[in-house]
Amino acid sequence: MPAKREHWASRIGFILAAAGSAVGLGNLWKFPYITWHNNGGAFVLVYLACVAAIGLPVMMAEILLGRRTQMSPVPAFEKLGNRGWGLVGFLGVLTGFVILGYYSVIAGWSIKSFIECVGWSINGYQQPADTAFGKFLSDGPLQLLLAFIFLFGTALIVWRGVSKGIEQAAKFLMPILLLILGYLVVRVMFLPGIGQTFHFLFRPNFSELPAAGVLEALGHAFFTLSLGMGVMITYGSYMHKRESIARGAGFVVFLDTLIALLACVIMYTIIFSVPGVAESVSGSTVGMLFVTLPRLFYTELSGGVLIGPLFYVLVAFAALTSTISVLEVIVSFFIDKLGFKRSTSTVIGTAAVAVCTFLSALSLGAVGFLSGFEIFAGKSGVLSTLDHIAANYLLPVGGLLTTLFVGWFVSRKISADELGMLDESGDPTFSFKLWLFFIRFIAPMAILAVIIAVILGKDFS
Ligand code: PHE
Repeated sequence: MPAKREHWASRIGFILAAAGSAVGLGNLWKFPYITWHNNGGAFVLVYLACVAAIGLPVMMAEILLGRRTQMSPVPAFEKLGNRGWGLVGFLGVLTGFVILGYYSVIAGWSIKSFIECVGWSINGYQQPADTAFGKFLSDGPLQLLLAFIFLFGTALIVWRGVSKGIEQAAKFLMPILLLILGYLVVRVMFLPGIGQTFHFLFRPNFSELPAAGVLEALGHAFFTLSLGMGVMITYGSYMHKRESIARGAGFVVFLDTLIALLACVIMYTIIFSVPGVAESVSGSTVGMLFVTLPRLFYTELSGGVLIGPLFYVLVAFAALTSTISVLEVIVSFFIDKLGFKRSTSTVIGTAAVAVCTFLSALSLGAVGFLSGFEIFAGKSGVLSTLDHIAANYLLPVGGLLTTLFVGWFVSRKISADELGMLDESGDPTFSFKLWLFFIRFIAPMAILAVIIAVILGKDFS
């Protein structure tokens, strides 16, 4: 075990790193897609309720586990619980392999879109053939190359450690990400589709919300806030005692939600501004981000030559700060539990992830038997299967167990003390009681509803 635990070098370190973990492909790729398919308005409102009533309390619970124990998930659960509870932490490590295995492949596509956009910006736009994206997906060597570039970049940062690697990267990447996002939002404000976008996003019409949308909103809240697999436990363990957990969690949840909504504003406004496109947005999850948008940047927007490449820098940076956090869960497990050095842990962790990544990257058409099998209806191939398992089973189950553990097994005194929610006479404050109510009752019941829905056949991936 290392002599002294690493810590964030500054207060903003935790916030930027945790926000970096939360803000990712979930915000830019998944949220705009599922909001579109759930008809906006009412879905957005339900999603906001899930984030506030479940996401925020659960995030506080995870951070408090890490900060209290100053340990990564497995030993954290063991210390405040017992060896059995340690398995929940271990589930998180396994989930990390699953998520990183496919996430790095999709993240790799942002590199391809960036390079393609730079080419168009310099040489002029050339409409790709309708089959181009399909061909790209089934190009095995290219998929492997892009995914491994991404994984390698992630590993380099994690190798450098908490403050010198993860924190420095977040301090560099997050401000650029916010600047690009800000620029894009200002840019689309002047497009004709902006009114329709606001109407779509913020005028709830509950008759248009599919019933399953409620559960989909909750499942997505877990994914997008990086909850249920120990990221926030791990990042919380590098947090100094003097910092406020509630404030940190509140800020991360706020920023993640804001960015998801702004991503919708940017993407929908461009789509609504071009007559006829809204009706034909590709039905596939990847369609909007990687097929519809690049074309519109160049054919419909003045300044598209700048916006195109910038947009994919945004996607790549957002994905990178997320992959870093997933790898860190795996690496910190090797360090804390097996006593390995950070460098050794990073190499072993990355090599193990690379196996999953290898299989995912070749499962988009390149290798028949990796692409064709179907364990879950409609999810063919390794990549879709891993995404399905993570979003539908692993994160909700991990989240439920974490919630039950903190709510019912960790003593109120420890929780209230760690959250800084004791009054002068040492009694828990009202905010603490409110938080505990959500952690004990509201969150577990809602998560259980998701799990039951999944068992009955609903899909959140
Ligand atoms: N929150 C990340 C996103 O929205 C994904 C993620 C899930 C990262 C779980 C870490 C853990 O893209």
